[in-house]
Amino acid sequence: MITPKVPHIIYGGDYNPEQWPQSVWAEDVRLMRAANVNLVSVGIFSWAKLEPQPDEYDFGWLDRLLDLLHENGIMANLATATASPPPWLARLYPESLPVTKDGVVLHPGARQHYCPSSAAYRERAAGLVGRIAERYKDHPVLAMWHVNNEYGCHVSECYCDASAAHFRRWLENRYGDLERLNEAWGTAFWSQRYGRWDEILPPRSAPTFANPTQQLDFRRFSSDALLGLYEMEREILRGATPDVPVTTNFMGFFKPADYWKWAGREDVVSDDSYPDPSDPEAHVLAAMNRDLMRSLGGGNSWVLMEQTTVRVNWRRRNAPKEPGRMRLWSLQAVARGADGIMFFQWRQSKAGAEKFHSAMVPHVRPEDSRSWAEVKRLGEDLTKLDGLSGTRGEARTAVLIDWDNWWALELDSKPSADVRMIEGLYFLYRPLFEANVPVDFAHPGSDLSSYDLVIAPNLYLVTDEAAENVRSFVEDGGTLLMSFFSGIVDENDHVRLGGYPAPFKDLLGLTIEDFVPLAEGATGCLATEEGASFSCDLWADLVHLRGAEALTTFADGFYGGMPAVTRNAYGGGSAYYLGTRPDAGYMGVLLERVCAEAGVGAPSEAPPGVEVVRRRSTEASYLFVLNHGEEAADVELEGPTVDLLSGAGRDGTLRLEPFGAAVLREW
Ligand code: GAL
Repeated sequence: MITPKVPHIIYGGDYNPEQWPQSVWAEDVRLMRAANVNLVSVGIFSWAKLEPQPDEYDFGWLDRLLDLLHENGIMANLATATASPPPWLARLYPESLPVTKDGVVLHPGARQHYCPSSAAYRERAAGLVGRIAERYKDHPVLAMWHVNNEYGCHVSECYCDASAAHFRRWLENRYGDLERLNEAWGTAFWSQRYGRWDEILPPRSAPTFANPTQQLDFRRFSSDALLGLYEMEREILRGATPDVPVTTNFMGFFKPADYWKWAGREDVVSDDSYPDPSDPEAHVLAAMNRDLMRSLGGGNSWVLMEQTTVRVNWRRRNAPKEPGRMRLWSLQAVARGADGIMFFQWRQSKAGAEKFHSAMVPHVRPEDSRSWAEVKRLGEDLTKLDGLSGTRGEARTAVLIDWDNWWALELDSKPSADVRMIEGLYFLYRPLFEANVPVDFAHPGSDLSSYDLVIAPNLYLVTDEAAENVRSFVEDGGTLLMSFFSGIVDENDHVRLGGYPAPFKDLLGLTIEDFVPLAEGATGCLATEEGASFSCDLWADLVHLRGAEALTTFADGFYGGMPAVTRNAYGGGSAYYLGTRPDAGYMGVLLERVCAEAGVGAPSEAPPGVEVVRRRSTEASYLFVLNHGEEAADVELEGPTVDLLSGAGRDGTLRLEPFGAAVLREW
């Protein structure tokens, strides 16, 4: 259960009543009830209405609105309203505006126009949050706090003088003295040695590549600067309402914020997710995001805080979700641990930049709209899933992700700029998704003992502790699959000498002499032990075996005959290594072998295109069967069950229509 105030699966959306005359509110709550909405996020962008002039507050409208919700049994995820400062903040404190790397000031007129290190923003935001918390702490509709909105979405870093000073304080705290900083940043290179703290700047636009560790530390700092703002608000809210859960909405695999660190400071993880309906693999990417959210919260249930009913407004061409897709993708989120399904937004705006973004209540009359019918249907579906509360996923496979590694991997001046974190991760996630193997994400330094298989995509930056953690996982009997360009640098982005990949040579039973980045569009040939051939691209490692066996070798290039994919028995387990990026055909074969060796697999058989996910507790087990295909699909059931969505008993063959879904109670 996400919040004791809503002892059900949460259903609702962002509600922005300040955009509408009060005469519309009564219609809003009537429709909310018709759709089984039980929670709305209120006030996210209402700072200018709540505090029209500095220290002049107007809470009357919000009082009336919350009372109206209360009368109608709808709870509030009350926002702190700090996401978009009113114009007066910039007028009174122009230094609160963010500045880009190139020195461009970002002005008011859109949203999120504040520097994360601005004292004025911080003080004014704290003042507002304190008043909101004080006023509504005992209001019966208060179910959850929604802090700010998508921290860092538009402005994730600022290069102004206040940010520079804040960055220096952060660095002093990290390094203590300048000598240590000079050492960590490798400033002997290009005469970059710092003699005084005030010589240090954020990595503003410079003649050429900025110092990599400076860039890496600025990423760490920028995530922490935003996190500091979140924590400032959270402390105020905690002080007023120690028992009301606090969240801030994430954005999936969002590079600027280290969500492992953030999630640990939230009571509930929540996410905004806008898969592109015109992308045939959108549901796979969506599944990957949902698995991340569940993992960030340590396996606890999370809330899908925002998605669209039909269309967004911010792509070049905003393809709609066809009928049925919104329901299917929502149920996918529930399958992967969400106990709340919400939308941006409740009522489609009449004015402003998002007027063509779909909402639960469309511009046209709801009764004339298929999307409203779908909104009502989903609301009803979710009322049937209360039993899921307390059930969890059952992954025994973990994919490693570490924001430090992501940041470092994608800095400039690498053998190939095309080795990208999310692509590398997706490349390994996708075949697991297709095989319906349940997957968690994990930090490389975290406890891996509950997993049988660990996948380490491009683990370029690794600390000594994390390297040891991965090694001991295999020693203790685990199976590891690691992809190229792993174990290359330490936490300062300094190369680990002694032969690549220094911390993993023994574990993998090999050394790498050098890397061969493949040109754009170029492919190579792979030959397997069994005589089959496949293709590969992007990268080739020059691998020398030191105990590992070659499963596959390169069949062309000056390195033809050298190992491309290897396996090493180590301790009680085994470590596979991918020294290139093979094609999907090969990856399917390899992952089948790796999963079989690790003893991990799908919860049940399913035809291609059908996703099968289990959630269970000690009392109950539920199997989600989701057909993402455009054809009907037949799934063979292992025994008689009941489909909670249709209420029908099922046995033998379960036929799912295109975009059809079933939630089967197994026991
Ligand atoms: C999110 C944001 C919402 C809305 C939505 C549109 O990024 O939190 O306020 O702008 O996108 O898709």
